[in-house]
Amino acid sequence: MTSATLDAGTPVATPTAPVAVGSDAASQRPARRRYAVVGTGQRARTYIDGIGEHDDVAELVALVDTNGTRLRYHVDRLRDAGRGEPALFAAEDLERMLDDVAPDVVVVTSPDRTHAAHVATALAHGADVVVEKPLTIDAGGMYTIADAVRRSEGRLTVAHNYRYSPRNAALRQVVADGRIGDVVSVHFEWLLDTAHGADYFRRWHREKKASGGLLVHKASHHFDLVNWWTGDVPESVFARGGLRFYGRPQAAGAQYAPDLSADDDLRALYLDAAHEDGYRRDQDPFAPGATIEDTLSVLVGYRSGATLTYALTAHSPWEGYRVAVNGTRGRAELEVVERCHTTPGLPGQLGTAADGGGDCCPSRPRGARLVVQEHWGRPEEIPLPVDDGHRTGDAALLRDVLRGHLPASDGGPDDDPLGRRAGLVDGLRAVAVGVAGNRSLATGQVVPVSTLGTRL
Ligand SMILES: NC(=O)c1ccc[n+]([C@@H]2O[C@H](COP(=O)([O-])OP(=O)(O)OC[C@H]3O[C@@H](n4cnc5c(N)ncnc54)[C@H](O)[C@@H]3O)[C@@H](O)[C@H]2O)c1
Repeated sequence: MTSATLDAGTPVATPTAPVAVGSDAASQRPARRRYAVVGTGQRARTYIDGIGEHDDVAELVALVDTNGTRLRYHVDRLRDAGRGEPALFAAEDLERMLDDVAPDVVVVTSPDRTHAAHVATALAHGADVVVEKPLTIDAGGMYTIADAVRRSEGRLTVAHNYRYSPRNAALRQVVADGRIGDVVSVHFEWLLDTAHGADYFRRWHREKKASGGLLVHKASHHFDLVNWWTGDVPESVFARGGLRFYGRPQAAGAQYAPDLSADDDLRALYLDAAHEDGYRRDQDPFAPGATIEDTLSVLVGYRSGATLTYALTAHSPWEGYRVAVNGTRGRAELEVVERCHTTPGLPGQLGTAADGGGDCCPSRPRGARLVVQEHWGRPEEIPLPVDDGHRTGDAALLRDVLRGHLPASDGGPDDDPLGRRAGLVDGLRAVAVGVAGNRSLATGQVVPVSTLGTRL
């Protein structure tokens, strides 16, 4: 990765490995790093539980949220698990938490629109930050975060967990090994099924000003993968798309109306907490008012001259993705079926955790297939380790994020030869495609990424 500068020519730190921390002299063990989590909804559980599972190196010291019921849900779980109880803070007391508790690391798992302010505030108080994707939702947020990193000594990690999924890493390895030569084009189609896809139209994600739309909120995962697979930098974006399925009244079946009360955790996190802030987790995805797209096509030009053609459909009957990478020596193809079909009427069905796994559809078997074919050669299937995508990726991400400062001899991760650890520049490049794409959707023009105001 090259070093980045702000448009004013101000140097921006490049992502580096986490710093070493002091050690506990008596035990010769590294000291535990103290974590605060900001935004304690569903995603925060991954970190709260992960910190508990890595409690030899990590300690949860504070939780921050706008909603007291959700804060107490997590504390009750921690108490039931016999774990220490963190201090609780209202969102408006974030700075007081940073002053009084002084965590080493702040994990930002609040809604996307809040990321830039939370990251900047935490860095300004000297904490390291781990922020969930997307890094931010617009050009202003990109500038705010790049500027905050420049002014701070704190380190920023962007939680691009898809890089940690072994099948995605295997494609990175194929490209890095030069098997297909120099990359000249990538074709990438991502399908969200009507269980998972609908979920983005049930809550804050349905508003572009809250999530940046699926081109930022969801596709930042995918654009990050392409940037990482190819080692290239996006330069121009042309996008077309719209709301073609959700967001307008239609005779939708009961399968689109999840019963949150059927799931103890969803009920406690959302139904029981709604009286405080009116946050509805189970809105009708067909209710009018959605300002995001459910059908998107994008053409991205890269610095090397390579191109990406990308498509996202959020109302597919099956879930998964297809990637083809064309190079000067051959072609690599990764095909993944995460869920071959969805089943109507599953209680609490909200997303990918619901069902449809196993080998229930012989004509569309679940799993991943990576095939490499060099010019004039036969296709070769690359063996892939067992990988259920999200869960496998999250476990590896957590290990890297929480133990990244430890040497392998002390239980830390091995070196990172594939460069999976993502920092500021990676996070900026991942959201830049979606942010420029949103401008292209609005103007009908090709949008140079340089016009966003933060050089990549
Ligand atoms: N990497 C992944 O695969 C993945 C998966 C799910 C979510 N995420 C990301 O995690 C983040 C959270 O997603 P979620 O599904 O848990 O959302 P959520 O709505 O369930 O939780 C967000 C929490 O933030 C709180 N909140 C709202 N405004 C706040 C503020 N100003 N300050 C502090 N807290 C505030 C809400 O009350 C809520 O508890 C999002 O950025 C999302 O993109 C990433």
